[in-house]
Amino acid sequence: MKEKFYITTPIYYPSANFHIGHCYTTIIADAIARYNRFKGKDVFFLTGTDEHGQKIENKAKEANVSPKEYVDEIVSNAKDLWKSLNISYDKFIRTTDKEHEVIVQRIFDKLYEQGDIYLGSYEGLYCTPCESFWTESQLVDGKCPDCGRDVSLVKEESYFFRLSKYQDRLIKMFNDNPEFLQPVSRKNEMINNFIKPGLEDLCVSRTSFSWGIPVSFNLKHVIYVWIDALSNYITALGYMSDNDTLFKKYWPCDLHLVGKEIVRFHAIVWPALLMALDLPLPKRIFGHGWLKIGDAKISKSSNNYQDPRTYVSQYGVDAVRYYVLKEVSFGNDGNFSVEALVSRTNADLANTLGNLVNRTITMVHKYFDGKINYCTNYLDTDTKLLNSVYELVDVVDNKMEELRVSEAISSIFDVLRDCNKYIDENTPWVLAKEGKMERLEVVLYTLLESIRVCAILLQSFIPDTSSKIFEQLNVKDSKYENLKDKVGFSVNQPVVLFKRIEDK
Ligand code: MSP
Repeated sequence: MKEKFYITTPIYYPSANFHIGHCYTTIIADAIARYNRFKGKDVFFLTGTDEHGQKIENKAKEANVSPKEYVDEIVSNAKDLWKSLNISYDKFIRTTDKEHEVIVQRIFDKLYEQGDIYLGSYEGLYCTPCESFWTESQLVDGKCPDCGRDVSLVKEESYFFRLSKYQDRLIKMFNDNPEFLQPVSRKNEMINNFIKPGLEDLCVSRTSFSWGIPVSFNLKHVIYVWIDALSNYITALGYMSDNDTLFKKYWPCDLHLVGKEIVRFHAIVWPALLMALDLPLPKRIFGHGWLKIGDAKISKSSNNYQDPRTYVSQYGVDAVRYYVLKEVSFGNDGNFSVEALVSRTNADLANTLGNLVNRTITMVHKYFDGKINYCTNYLDTDTKLLNSVYELVDVVDNKMEELRVSEAISSIFDVLRDCNKYIDENTPWVLAKEGKMERLEVVLYTLLESIRVCAILLQSFIPDTSSKIFEQLNVKDSKYENLKDKVGFSVNQPVVLFKRIEDK
């Protein structure tokens, strides 16, 4: 039986204004999901939208429509964005899906019945856009530490989840599972800044607005958005429903991928809820860094971005995917600028990759009518390149296991640069001129084989480009087990993969 791999993105607040920062979580999740499918795993890749809360209620009021009408209208925007970026999710969950709402109520009922949720009253500083309560000391200059906007004092009767009860189990869990939260720096931050100072019980219901899932036994209350939102990872699989086949198959989750600002909900609140439900914990949570413009996180309020689809239509989907995946290295922040997107596309995709494929296939047509036999009579220079190409398979695999996606891509491009150097050093046009056709065939075979393996490895990151390369190489199988095929080539006509983007 295939090994399973369950991967999730956070569910997004529905919006008419997604920016390239939003796309980062989903593009990286897509690359990881595709890579695991490529390794032969049975992958379930979940994404969706987080549709309840005061903010949506307010926006719907402004637009003079019901909250449901409001979200129905803009959820399609997320689906359209993911389509334009070639995102291969298996399921798109909406927190307004009936199946989700019913199960969230059941989860709440269960926690209440067993004493993990109780009725109290809450006074706190609330940031409406972020749906988060803050203590005085967490504010930065009196404003929300996440988005920098105003917070307001809120007091109301609320249900609470006994988060404090799970403090010791959480610390033990972090210590026993060094892999649970990555990068490691985030784990230390969680333990030292949040858990050790003492966890407070968490407010899990609201009475001041009504756009949410009602508490089944007290209809004045709606369920506070994080219990609703986090539960999506199990309701999407049919947990507590009549059909829990997917839940039995895929839970526990192999990887929750989240931006660093929501790590504390995923690494503290979510495990505590799962402990209360007596369910196994996710195997890994990865908190990635932000895409920034200058020093600031790209955010809806920053007004300094275009719709990501603009970049896709101008530069191509793989230019955008490549740039985003390459720019943000393991857990750190990265920078976004159109200038850098253009120069990376030109340098890496058009020059290094595009030219290599184009000139190799052109030479194969020019000197051998498109046909190259499988060769074995290598010189050291050929063996050196081919060895580094085959070693690349393990290099990429190790990096992807550690979620070092940007480094995995870089290592493929290092080899592609070596291929270009190999052409310059072996000067195939001189071999042709001197009539050394046997040697020339080995050189071109070495190049085609290197391109084939690199294109197979690039599939998870820039899938359209890999397909175009397979088409030109005229090879059909692009699976993991085909990596070490020994094949001759009968190539198709060359097609330009990336046109250089000229300065406007
Ligand atoms: N709805 C919550 C998540 C609930 S999960 C149970 C939420 N939604 S969000 O729409 O605000 O964010 C979705 C994802 O986009 C998060 O992973 C967030 O970190 C990511 N990003 C939003 N802006 C970003 C950047 N500028 N850079 C990188 N990722 C960022 O949070």
